[in-house]
Amino acid sequence: MEVHIKETYEQMSIDAARKVADVLNTKPNAVLGLATGSTPQGMYQELVRLHREEGLDFSQVTTFNLDEYVGVPPSHPQSYHYFMHENLFKHINVPPQNVYVPSGTTDNYAAFCAWYEQRIDDCGGIDLQVLGIGSDGHIAFNEPGSSLGSRTRLKTLAKQTIDDNARFFENREDVPIYSITMGVGTILEAEEIILLINGENKAEAAKHAIEGAVCSQYTASALQMHPEVTAYLDTAAAGKLEMTEYYNWIQKMKPGAPRL
Ligand code: PGA
Repeated sequence: MEVHIKETYEQMSIDAARKVADVLNTKPNAVLGLATGSTPQGMYQELVRLHREEGLDFSQVTTFNLDEYVGVPPSHPQSYHYFMHENLFKHINVPPQNVYVPSGTTDNYAAFCAWYEQRIDDCGGIDLQVLGIGSDGHIAFNEPGSSLGSRTRLKTLAKQTIDDNARFFENREDVPIYSITMGVGTILEAEEIILLINGENKAEAAKHAIEGAVCSQYTASALQMHPEVTAYLDTAAAGKLEMTEYYNWIQKMKPGAPRL
């Protein structure tokens, strides 16, 4: 895993957006895997700026979101459909028919999950997957104990996730208990992955994800098995990492490295 530590959230968001832009500039019809939550908001803002001011083109892009709350319709302000529309889709030129977000209101979850996996395959697989991380070390809603080979399915949210996400709802009781989420196995099939981590409350999860043992109790640790992962952290999230000097040394030496 390549680890980039930046002084501020804004800087890490700009770097992550640049990575997405590089992929789109190389492959204009790329398939992006997208995440919700407060973490990627800065990166989405920068992508919107790149679209408006520098012509970054999404006209051939396809997107698949990681997850959605069960029982929450797309029009609900806390649905991930709504989040994506407000934070990204309505500001860029991605064709609406190329946008996929798991349905939280289907009447057949098993069939929907199988269809979602098939759609990803039919579109050629995900070229670049964007991920945040939960304070319990989850990626998407793959809570502690999720199989590292899991596929898109229904998941019960962990209490810690419900507590973390209660800030977005009026009452804690309003936070959905179930989600539909891509599995760890689904995520690991992406060609390339970027993991965004910011804030002191994520420092413990970051340590387990980047330097801990690979285990289902911190599903983000499974990313260590993937050959093309770049993690972007701010200094607060990197606070508990032990190898910070080493990561910074690698980045510093990079310009002199032999060309591939
Ligand atoms: P957050 O959520 O970005 O709102 O902290 C991340 C996650 O739960 O994956």
